[in-house]
Amino acid sequence: MNFKKKILCIGAGYVGGPSMAMIAFKCPDYRVTVVDVNSERIDAWNSPQLPFYEPGLEDIIKKRRGKNLFFSTDIENQIRENDIIFVCVNTPTKNYGAGAHMAADLQYWEKTARQILKHSRSSKIVIEKCTLPVKTALAMEKILSSSRGKIKFEVLSNPEFMAEGSAINDLENPDRVLIGSHETKSGLKARTELTEIYQRWIPSSKIITSNIWSSELSKLVANAFLAQRVSSINSISALCEKTDADISEVARAVGTDDRIGRKFLNAGIGFGGSCFKKDILNLVYLCRHYGLDEVAAYWESVVKINEYQQQRFIAAMLHSMFHTLAGKRICILGFAFKADTSDTRESPAIYITQKLLSEKAELVISDPRALKNAAADLSGAEGNVQFIEDPYEAARGCHALVVLTDWSLYRMLDYKKIYRSMTKPAFIFDGRNIVDREKCFAIGFNVYAIGKPALTHL
Ligand code: NAD
Ligand code: UGA
Repeated sequence: MNFKKKILCIGAGYVGGPSMAMIAFKCPDYRVTVVDVNSERIDAWNSPQLPFYEPGLEDIIKKRRGKNLFFSTDIENQIRENDIIFVCVNTPTKNYGAGAHMAADLQYWEKTARQILKHSRSSKIVIEKCTLPVKTALAMEKILSSSRGKIKFEVLSNPEFMAEGSAINDLENPDRVLIGSHETKSGLKARTELTEIYQRWIPSSKIITSNIWSSELSKLVANAFLAQRVSSINSISALCEKTDADISEVARAVGTDDRIGRKFLNAGIGFGGSCFKKDILNLVYLCRHYGLDEVAAYWESVVKINEYQQQRFIAAMLHSMFHTLAGKRICILGFAFKADTSDTRESPAIYITQKLLSEKAELVISDPRALKNAAADLSGAEGNVQFIEDPYEAARGCHALVVLTDWSLYRMLDYKKIYRSMTKPAFIFDGRNIVDREKCFAIGFNVYAIGKPALTHL
């Protein structure tokens, strides 16, 4: 078949896979290929068992794979064959050398730029889809123009705003698509080419354009603002616990103001996921680099409150369970960093379970999708840990239930049945405020939630 456009994505991860699947789904006359250095990942994309769980993803992969959507490890040939290249490799926090634990580690991104330069035989549009520090496109352009040949590369910034767990809906109906380009003739031509792809299913009014630097920075800022809302409501949850105010009532009262808005005001054990913390730290690093220490300190406090929230949660458990967890059996309900994903990267559950193990608690971990990743995350941890998917089985004989992920399943459990099978006095620590507190208290549980008065029989 003669395809109208040939698109390549380098990086077959949580963003590269779903975002390219959506392009292939909406544009059956385009050929979309996704490549990765990780052959196990590519094998998974080509198998019935996709590399991770994302609602709705399997359906669109099945519809387009082998028709106009391909997954491959042949990076060199694919660079040669495609005209439009999205770069969607990982950009984790650097854990070595200058900027360690703050700056973005750009080694994967730079390696990709060099691969593109080495293997290209014709001019190409190169699109940054991964999240990068502002001004990275400049470095990419310097690398790509270093051979001074006839081949020209136009670099665009097109950050991705999808969230895991709702990725397919976010990609299909985004609030906006952002395209940053140079305002030169070739920059505007490349921008039009990329706009044409998105216009296949997204109204033009939602396709925003800007200069490249604004586009790169907007992605970091959007994540920082979202994380800031979570830390803001979590900071107030601590005050609620001291004053008998209820954080859900406060969030409702505050969020019904249109100027503030209702979303992202759920108090809990803090944000996890691979991006919020890394992107804020990246922003903080950039501010310090430019001598903006006050601005850096402001954004750094968002991460500090997130850590404080998790420390508070552990301290409250220890205090309520008579100052010792040693030998107590504790059932962890949920290990994923949020509901509807198998992803556990930077999940608050990692820190909390490690702390519980250091208190010599015995843990039974339950999660409908993330147990494989949970086992990998805790593989080096010392102590007694079991992994049991069935929550009823997991809770049997336990002293406490600890809800760490907002899976809707945990709203609907038969807590009466669970209570009967547990050691008494039985406790619930609801780190996501999803359990019906009054009902569980009436059953006999001692119930502790975030930013709400404790309901206890003790
Ligand atoms: P990921 O780790 O799941 O995927 C990145 C993939 O890139 C990996 O499979 C890795 O093997 C591959 N890779 C690395 N170097 C390569 C190379 N030289 N050639 C080929 N493949 C290579 O990461 P992700 O979660 O998909 O995130 C990717 C980027 O998108 C990050 O910058 C992230 O900040 C951003 N982002 C992520 C999300 C999200 O929800 N996860 C949302 C928006 C933006
Ligand atoms: C987030 C952003 O929402 C996306 O727009 C962005 O593209 C993405 O990061 C990224 O750059 O990686 P994601 O991390 O997948 O998406 O999920 P969110 O829904 O934002 O949740 C992040 C964390 O905040 C989760 O741990 C969640 O439980 C927590 N959260 C969220 C709260 O504790 N309270 C809330 O009210 C909302």
